[in-house]
Amino acid sequence: MINVTMTVNGREMTGEVEARTLLVQFLRDHLRLTGTHVGCDTTQCGCCIVHVDGKAMKSCTMLAVQAQGKAITTIEGLAAKDGTLHPMQQAFRDNHALQCGYCTPGMVMMGIDIARRLPDADEATIRHQLEGNICRCTGYQGIVEAIKSASAVLNGKQEGGSHA
Ligand code: FES
Ligand code: FES
Repeated sequence: MINVTMTVNGREMTGEVEARTLLVQFLRDHLRLTGTHVGCDTTQCGCCIVHVDGKAMKSCTMLAVQAQGKAITTIEGLAAKDGTLHPMQQAFRDNHALQCGYCTPGMVMMGIDIARRLPDADEATIRHQLEGNICRCTGYQGIVEAIKSASAVLNGKQEGGSHA
């Protein structure tokens, strides 16, 4: 067993893992942060996306030991302490961007990453960026609209968003 320590949603977390333990297993099974989903386990669906040092990563594609010393943000770490949703979460709600919700944590985490890297992304760019995220319910239109509108809020091009 290997001792691993990382910061998860602002709190230092330590655990004992096997060398083969995936980051997503550490988050879900050891820390009980089950908002990060597993849809495929083979790097295809994007349900497991978290932020590692601020960048979107598929946590089924990374070993827990590779996250040693890194800062991880999961879907549980986005809302404010008083429950106010992150602008990306609020935009998903406002734009009807989820149905069953299984893909949603990964979509939200990826959406924030897109907004950060590509603040002027148009619809085609957002769709291209979402090629590693599979949604089987929504048809994607609401998701694309949510990311576009939250990106405007996050990049200061629009005041507050409809959650104000
Ligand atoms: S569970 Fe990681 S990409 Fe599908
Ligand atoms: S909302 Fe069901 S898979 Fe996307």
